[in-house]
Order: sequence, then C-alpha cells, then structure tokens
Amino acid sequence: MNKIDVLLGLQWGDEGKGKIVDVLTPQYDIIARFQGGPNAGHTLEFQGTKHVLNIIPSGIFHSEKQNIIGNGVLIEPLIFQREIRDLKARDVNPNQNLFVSKKAHLITPSHRMLDMANEQAKGLQKIGSTLKGIGPTYTDKIARIGLRVGDILKSDWLDRYNDLKEDHLRLLKSLGYDLGSFKIDEIPFLEYERRWMESLETLKTFTFIDSEYFLNDALKQGKKILAEGAQGSMLDIDFGSYPFVTSSSTITAGVCSGLGIAPSNIGRVYGLCKAYCTRVGSGPFPTELFDETGDRLRQAGREFGSTTGRPRRCGWIDIPALNYACMLNGVTDLVVTKVDVMNDFDTVKMCVKYKIEGKETLQIPYDLGEKIEPILQNYQGWNSNLQGIKTYNELPSDLKDYIKAIEDITGVKVAIVSTSPDREDTIFKI
Ligand code: GDP
Ligand code: IMO
Ligand code: MG
Repeated sequence: MNKIDVLLGLQWGDEGKGKIVDVLTPQYDIIARFQGGPNAGHTLEFQGTKHVLNIIPSGIFHSEKQNIIGNGVLIEPLIFQREIRDLKARDVNPNQNLFVSKKAHLITPSHRMLDMANEQAKGLQKIGSTLKGIGPTYTDKIARIGLRVGDILKSDWLDRYNDLKEDHLRLLKSLGYDLGSFKIDEIPFLEYERRWMESLETLKTFTFIDSEYFLNDALKQGKKILAEGAQGSMLDIDFGSYPFVTSSSTITAGVCSGLGIAPSNIGRVYGLCKAYCTRVGSGPFPTELFDETGDRLRQAGREFGSTTGRPRRCGWIDIPALNYACMLNGVTDLVVTKVDVMNDFDTVKMCVKYKIEGKETLQIPYDLGEKIEPILQNYQGWNSNLQGIKTYNELPSDLKDYIKAIEDITGVKVAIVSTSPDREDTIFKI
C-alpha cells in the first residue's frame, strides 16, 4: 500500500506552498487539503498569469488530477463560489476533478461576525485574524454544535442553521453588537446571508464524499496522494506562538485527523521555508527586522498578504523555529523558497540560536513573547541574478553554502530550491 506524502509550511505561513504543490502535482494522482480554510492564500504563477486559491487545493490546474477538500478543512460557501467562478473564468472546470468531504465544517455569516467581534474585544491583544470566521467555526466544531457540508442535504438543515445563528446572535448581543450594525466584506449582514444561502447551490453541484474512505481506498489501489497544508507550523494551535496562532493543527499530525489517514501511512514530508522569514498579523517574531533591511525584503519579496493585502513583517531565517518545526513534522525534505529575494544582498544573516536571560539556546521557549535576542551568523551574499538557472550545480557557490548551512544545522536535506514565483523556476536538488 502506498503512503501519503505531505507538504506544509514550517514558518508563519506564506512559504510558497501553492507554487510547490502545483509543481509537484504531476507526480501525484490526488491533492488533498487537510486543514485551514479561506484564511489561506496560495499563489500559483505560470504562463504569465497569477492565481490565488483559498479553499481549493493547489492541484486544480491539472485537469487529470483529483483534488479533495478534506474533513479538517473549513468551507465558506460564498468564498468557495467566488473561487469556482474565478477558475471557470480561466477555463478550468473544477466540477470534473474536485471532491468535497461531507464532514468538512461550514463557516456561516454569523461565524464571520463573531470573528470580527472577538478581535475587536481583544483590543491591543488582537491576533490579527484574517476575519474569515476560522476561530469561531473551529470553536463550534470542538463544542460539537458545528454545521457540516453533509448537513445541507438534510431536511432539518434550515432549522439547524437558524438555531446556530440564534446562539451566535445571543453571544454577539452580550458583546454589545446587533445585526444591523454589521457588514461582511462591505456587504450588510442580511444581504451577505442571502448570497451565502444562494451559494450553497454552487457547493451542491460538487460530489460530496466520505473522504477518509476515498483516500484510503485510493492508497490501496496504488494511487499517489499529496496532502497540502495551510498556514505554517509556528501558527499551529498547540505548538505555534500561542495565542497568536490559527485554530487548527497545521503540522503533519493534522493530516491524520484532517483526512483520516493512519500515522503509519504517512510517507515523505516536504517542509517549506523561505530563505528568510515573514509573519502577517500580530504575535512574537524573534528575528523581525524593523529597519531598512526589513523593508528591502518586503519590497523585493512582494511581501503583501495574498488574502488580505496586509504588509507582511519580515526578518532573517530563524533556525531554532525551523528545527522545532522539522522535529514536530518529521520533515524528510526541505524546500527553500524565495532565495532570489536576497539576490543583491551583500550579507545574508541567519539566526542560529536565541539568547534568553543571558543563556544561548536552540530551544523554543514556552512563551515566544519573552525577550529573545537572536544570535545572528553572517553569510556572504551571492550577488547574482538566478534567472535561467535550471540545475542545482549552476547556483552560485555562496548560495549553495547558505543552503548547506541550513541542511547542516537542521539535519534535513534540501530537496527543492525555488527562485521565482513561476512554476518553471524550481530547482530539484536530489
Ligand atoms: P503560500 O500561502 O505558502 O502558498 O504562499 P503565498 O502564495 O501566500 O505567498 C508566497 C508568495 O511568494 C506568492 O506571491 C508567490 O507567488 C511568491 N513566491 C513563491 N515562490 C517564490 C520564489 O521562489 N521567489 C519569489 N520571488 N516569489 C515566490
Ligand atoms: P497560508 O496558507 C499567513 C495568520 C493570521 C493571524 C493568525 C490567525 O496562506 O500560509 P485566522 O484567520 O486563522 O484566525 O488568523 O494566523 N494566518 C496566516 N498567516 N498565511 C496564512 O495562510 C495564514 N492563515 C492565518 O494573519 O495572525
Ligand atoms: Mg499564503
């Protein structure tokens, strides 16, 4: 029986997962998302065009491959409808090759209102949520009151929707909100809700599946599956920079619960990191640069959120965090993206340890928010344009030294290096 391979982010998200999944898709039969929802923004670029996916797996542009939205994913039907429309405008017909788990939970308009209200209530402590309703929807899932895709086909669907909405309205009222004052994506609540209800019809045109059987049967038949992660390990609900995290298991363990795959059936784990580091939203970020170098990374890397357009915070690569993520995920293959962003840096720095209360450590402290001084090591910049380079050997030796340092310190081999947003600019090392 085949094992399922995994691809996920090792930092605070936006490592380039969408691009690399798209590049690896020809090697697989099925691409399956296992967690997260429309908080994700996965960018694909090829043949001069760019496309951002939120809920739909990044294998969708390969019409002969199957794409699965797993039970661990959250679906916001109106956002889903917009994604489908955008794909159809590009002559992609996802009805052919996209399947949706009946057990995936639904984000309702009142979940989105709660997300906004909760964030506002937090004031300065706000998480910087994408406001897509992720926190409240996973909360309801765990509280055992959530709504799932399979429920929309049931005769008591509307009653169940209204019951949950009433619960949410009571909560909102206690926070001082009433329906009339709310807008979602600039649309008044009741109008948004009307469109949301309509968008369920688009969702219903897709085949709903028991994705755990679908995927395990596929493995038995010798099919190759890649599980696509969203967010990154440092945003994981258990191991991320809590409470500044998302509400799902973003690590390899999330594949087991988010798709119904046994741990013994996990194969290769591709862990992605940028050659530097970014974070969007609030929360600790030990290697963050507040100076001109941070601005340079932001401009050269076009570090503005794919989902929200927010400027991303930028800093040097963080080895203690990367080591931690490799440990948690059992990474077998590292993928280093966006090396080109530092093409004209004379010196590139790497945080090799943290100094906390005078002591140097490689370990992530309980509270990443405490005062951490990053111990930086300098590397010679490669000062060259990487355009047109197709093989690892052709890369400048200073860049190869930098990559080797990442391998040595994490103990994991780099399998892929990405040198531009385009599908074609991807170098396989091993
Ligand atoms: P994801 O959430 O992990 O899929 O990543 P995002 O799509 O949110 O952010 C990654 C951004 O970097 C996107 O704009 C990509 O097009 C871009 N990108 C991916 N790989 C590279 C690369 O190697 N070099 C450069 N310059 N950009 C890249
Ligand atoms: P992809 O898949 C980067 C961040 C938000 C916020 C925190 C919680 O594109 O890498 P949420 O909406 O989940 O409640 O927000 O997590 N965040 C991301 N940051 N990339 C993402 O996804 C993210 N998804 C959520 O900015 O700080
Ligand atoms: Mg992203």
